[in-house]
Amino acid sequence: MKIIHDLNEIYAQIDFVRRDAKRIGLVPTMGALHAGHLSLVQRAKQDGEIAVATIFVNPTQFGPKDDLAKYPRTLDSDLTALREQGCDIVFVPPSDRIYSGSHSTFVEPPSVARRWEGELRPGHFRGVATIVLKLFQLIPAHVAYFGRKDYQQVAVIQAMVDDLNLPIRIEACETVREPDGLAMSSRNRYLSKEDRVRAVGLWRALSLAQRRLDAGENTRASLEAAMRAELEKAPVDSIDYAAIVHPGSMEPVEVVEESAIAIIAARVGSTRLIDNMTIMAKEVQRMERTE
Ligand code: PAJ
Repeated sequence: MKIIHDLNEIYAQIDFVRRDAKRIGLVPTMGALHAGHLSLVQRAKQDGEIAVATIFVNPTQFGPKDDLAKYPRTLDSDLTALREQGCDIVFVPPSDRIYSGSHSTFVEPPSVARRWEGELRPGHFRGVATIVLKLFQLIPAHVAYFGRKDYQQVAVIQAMVDDLNLPIRIEACETVREPDGLAMSSRNRYLSKEDRVRAVGLWRALSLAQRRLDAGENTRASLEAAMRAELEKAPVDSIDYAAIVHPGSMEPVEVVEESAIAIIAARVGSTRLIDNMTIMAKEVQRMERTE
């Protein structure tokens, strides 16, 4: 596995790989890797690509209330895990080469960035879109893999790719979960033993939305109320949102006719957790099974 820090070197290396007519799969991360991140590398390898992971804790996507300095940094174990996964190249750029002192160009994020995380974390998606576009420039891959765990992030990146005609395909990959349903996240390490038990409330609330839909309850009002009640039962300490939204626009949907996305952001102790689930009406589930 090649570990590259230099910007010219990564560009030259990718150019070299492309000349060999090899397909490149890009997996952008901020490190502190867990099985969720590694599943993206695995996908790239399964798809027969040269897997290129990036590790960069992007300062521009952190707000003043998010603690950038406290973001977990575990480079040595990240590199070991990537090597074990068969990752081909890891790009770990120095921060001052990505953002020089005079850096002032940013991507204005698409409209799907407006609500939810965009509203609660002003500037977050502007930072995400900017770094992802930079990485796409430095590493002109054929495919980039992102986790559905951050559903709105994938929607923002897909819209940016469409709007800016970027020549790359975006693959959204399934959320990897702990055995009890908790979505894997670098932030889970901050949960105390007691928080960890309560954190599974997000998964329970999402699963409940699907069960209620199965039972014929398909209005936003009733599904959102059910999710909130389940979250309060956990109990979580506060709820930022628990909503039923359109898979494309992420605008709230009043009635779930076929499918929708149930999304939740809640705080457990001092840790803010997000999760989501695609919920489907019974007929759609049946159709999916027979396809
Ligand atoms: P990070 O939080 O490190 O996540 C890197 C990638 O791993 C993202 O695509 C994320 O959705 C995915 N991921 C995280 N948890 C997952 C899980 N449990 N199952 C499957 N995939 C999971 O997201 C970022 O970094 C940054 O915003 C980034 C895109 C790298 C830009 O800085």
